[in-house]
Amino acid sequence: MTDHNTNNQTAIHPSITDFDRLAEKAISRRGFLGTCVGVGASAFAMGVTSAFPMSALAKSSSRLSFNAVAANTLDTITLPQGYSWQVVASWGDPLWSKGSEFDQATRGTGQSQELAFGDNNDGMALFTHNNKHILAVNNEYVNRKIFHGNRTSHAPENADDVRKSKAGHGLTVMEVTQTNGRWSMVKDSSYNRRITVDSPMDITGPARGNDMLKTAADPTGTRSKGTWNNCGNGRTPWGTYLACEENFNGYFSSSDENYTISNELSRYGVKAKDRGYNWSLSDERFDVSKHPNEANRAGYIVELDPLDPTSTPKKRTALGRFKHENAEVVIADNGHVVVYMGDDERGEFLYKFVSKNKYDKNASNTKNSALLEEGELFVAKFYDQGVGKWLALTPKTTGMGSQADICIHTRIAASAVGATTMDRPEWVSANPNKAEIYCALTNNKNRGKKPNAGGDTTPAGGPNPRDVNNYGQIVRWSPVNADHTASEFSWDLFVMAGNPTVHSDAYAGSANITVDNMFNSPDGIAFDQHGILWIQTDGKYSNKGDYANQGNNQMLAADTNTGEIRRFLVGPKECEVTGSTWSEDGKTLFVGIQHPGEKGNSHFPDGGNSVPRSSVIAITKDDGGYIG
Ligand code: FEO
Ligand code: CA
Ligand code: CA
Ligand code: CA
Repeated sequence: MTDHNTNNQTAIHPSITDFDRLAEKAISRRGFLGTCVGVGASAFAMGVTSAFPMSALAKSSSRLSFNAVAANTLDTITLPQGYSWQVVASWGDPLWSKGSEFDQATRGTGQSQELAFGDNNDGMALFTHNNKHILAVNNEYVNRKIFHGNRTSHAPENADDVRKSKAGHGLTVMEVTQTNGRWSMVKDSSYNRRITVDSPMDITGPARGNDMLKTAADPTGTRSKGTWNNCGNGRTPWGTYLACEENFNGYFSSSDENYTISNELSRYGVKAKDRGYNWSLSDERFDVSKHPNEANRAGYIVELDPLDPTSTPKKRTALGRFKHENAEVVIADNGHVVVYMGDDERGEFLYKFVSKNKYDKNASNTKNSALLEEGELFVAKFYDQGVGKWLALTPKTTGMGSQADICIHTRIAASAVGATTMDRPEWVSANPNKAEIYCALTNNKNRGKKPNAGGDTTPAGGPNPRDVNNYGQIVRWSPVNADHTASEFSWDLFVMAGNPTVHSDAYAGSANITVDNMFNSPDGIAFDQHGILWIQTDGKYSNKGDYANQGNNQMLAADTNTGEIRRFLVGPKECEVTGSTWSEDGKTLFVGIQHPGEKGNSHFPDGGNSVPRSSVIAITKDDGGYIG
């Protein structure tokens, strides 16, 4: 194996000197810190945020028009003055009038859940077609403590509980409409659809028909049953929705206690012991000792046509198999489709797919969609000097037998070429105004302490500069010649999250982190049509210790030209804020509130003594203006 170290001289324990170097580079490269030239890197490393006139800068040139909200631990949504929110849909809301309203006591049945909005909404996208608004939403997983709160075990105890759990996962497609300023789901719309763990899918790309995908349920290896644990999302210029399978492994278990999990499945975290989903209780597919290839049919990007309720979703194996976060699709100037994707696990990697053929906006959707079946897959290598390379994953570079092997065991391929182990790559978003891409590296307690599951070391350095990284950072890069298909890029850190009220070293965060905008664990990131970067967090909400004064999870807006970051929203207790999409006119921002009260301490959104429910909310400005 080649070296995995982006910064060979960085020892296990960080020193101010190493960080100074990084910070100095970050400062000198960042135009928005141009006013700070002359401030020493040590000052930067010591968290001297007051040395940077961010507030003055914000006043003079800010593109953000709202007043920042303060961190808090309230059990509601907090927005800046002049903004309002409402619930569009919550877990258990029926999509059809034949379904039943959410039952607070039982929390639903298998049948009611199949007819209702799933749990734990995450990535989403709004499609507007013939004046209809179609919202496609991932239902990542179920918050078992709440979802099965009618069971003392907080787990499925019978076949109907499993049916309900499987229907709580997957995707929801629903028409939404705005009447008198309020958004609501259109019950019985012909667009409404649930896709769950049992929905048939086609497998496309290099791994289609491969022996490793052949199972008792599909001996041809060309079909797959269902999708689950879809985290972030993507959307294509040809109008399809991409759902991204993340922690697919946690649903498999073995009825044979002595069954040895293969190294390949172990790399993806498949274990013999059930983690509480109990799906194998009534669906043998999830018994890995009986059907070891089943897990090979998960971990992909799934493409869905949200406007055709009869269409069969397609698993795109050409984009690799890993714990996908989202899929950011860009059309390069030369016409190739480029998809940037993170693998969210400690010490895993950042990927790029480049289509073999070119996008043609006049071609049929079917033809453009096929672009995701064939192309090259790359993995990122970051060098310490602010430059990086995309390493091709081919049989030649990886020593693996075929492209199908690479598309199924993508993590193993990436390890073989010595890619840079990252601090959990979450969402990737491309700046609409220039060839520049951002990725949230959420946190990594193992940085500098522990290798990844493939044994690759994780020394601090490069874009992952802090050992035991509790706070996370956002890295950005620009491809050479503004060409998204180029194999080289330059990079820097846009922000390092931290806590300046607790730390005075690198853990205080970068210069654009202050006591007024601090947060931990950036996760969902997305540019809006005006080029503002929105940042959502999935962090610790204890409000204590390292996280003192940071409050609940939140959403912030950033001006990437100046580095300014301002808090826009604070979520209710024990939630994650994840998933966003805008109405076409830019006047409604839809936001996902996932697992409020995951530890039992919320009644969002219904209040009183109600069961907390994950929800999609719509945010509008009271004067009817643009958000942000
Ligand atoms: Fe589902 Fe990586 O968050
Ligand atoms: Ca996430
Ligand atoms: Ca996360
Ligand atoms: Ca989550």
